Amino acid sequence: MRDLDGKVAIVTGAARGLGRCEALQLASQGARLVINDLGVAGDGSGRDEEPARAVVDEIKQMGGEAVPHFGDVANWKDAEALIGTALDHFGGLNILVNNAGFIRDRMPWNMSEEDFDAVVRVHLKGHFCPMRFAMIHWREASKRSGAPIYGRLINTASESYLFGSVGQPNYAAAKAGIVAITMGAAQLLLKYGVTANVFIPRARTRMTSSGPLEAMFAKPEEGFDVFAPENATPLVGYLASPKAERISGYVFIIWNREVKIVSGPGIDAAFENDERWDLDSLHTALGPHFEKLEPVKDGYALRSG
Ligand SMILES: NC(=O)c1ccc[n+]([C@@H]2O[C@H](COP(=O)([O-])OP(=O)(O)OC[C@H]3O[C@@H](n4cnc5c(N)ncnc54)[C@H](O)[C@@H]3O)[C@@H](O)[C@H]2O)c1
Repeated sequence: MRDLDGKVAIVTGAARGLGRCEALQLASQGARLVINDLGVAGDGSGRDEEPARAVVDEIKQMGGEAVPHFGDVANWKDAEALIGTALDHFGGLNILVNNAGFIRDRMPWNMSEEDFDAVVRVHLKGHFCPMRFAMIHWREASKRSGAPIYGRLINTASESYLFGSVGQPNYAAAKAGIVAITMGAAQLLLKYGVTANVFIPRARTRMTSSGPLEAMFAKPEEGFDVFAPENATPLVGYLASPKAERISGYVFIIWNREVKIVSGPGIDAAFENDERWDLDSLHTALGPHFEKLEPVKDGYALRSG
């Protein structure tokens, strides 16, 4: 279905894994693509332009249009230049899929300051920077035309933000932050005609093909390939499409053959006091409540259904 003919999309980290599949998905719907990727190793080290060039070639071979951008998404100036690439080369920007990132998993007691900073930077700042410059463009474009425009922001989080993933404090924190900044962006962008949603996949990529997750994500000998990236990425195409114009401010989980919508945080119980709380009145109110409850062992996972 070519429902994105004429639309311009940026996918960050589009040279590999999910980003590459997202770019191919959007190209198959007719979008013109900016393929951003720094070409780093799985831990964020190094740089390589070749993988992004290969995806650009792949899209051109499909009959599509694509240009590469080799910048670092978490660098303010590179992010500005990334949005500028879409505007200069294709004359506009409709869809921004923030996807780039890497992991450095460690238990909190083994994590270095550098590993914490690098992962929070690439995911959280690496989402915020392109999002900021895209928002400037969308706001100005809508004000200029005097009408809502066509815009889609799709940010990538992870179930780790729900589970409080024990060996990924840096990554889980960044992904929780990404959900928070997307919710704010969704509120601001609605009046300009731009939707903003969070995409949470599970897929066999470089990120999940080594270490403790390798066996779980392995391709089965037979039967449905539960963790193929292509199971998840049609949702990015859908959220980017005209059909999703009323969907904004939501968090989606997708893998296997199931798509789930995460409910917003709620209040489990509320207690009021006639005066300022003190230790005794707090214990009188909260003690009986927690007597019936167990400590939370799995983050919000058990309650997320
Ligand atoms: N694979 C999963 O199961 C899974 C689950 C939940 C969330 N995610 C998220 O999906 C996204 C894609 O992950 P993946 O599994 O495809 O990993 P991947 O390693 O295959 O791809 C990530 C890409 O991002 C690029 N990149 C890294 N840092 C960059 C930077 N500073 N600027 C530009 N590009 C950069 C890398 O070069 C790489 O090509 C990530 O945000 C990840 O956290 C993945």
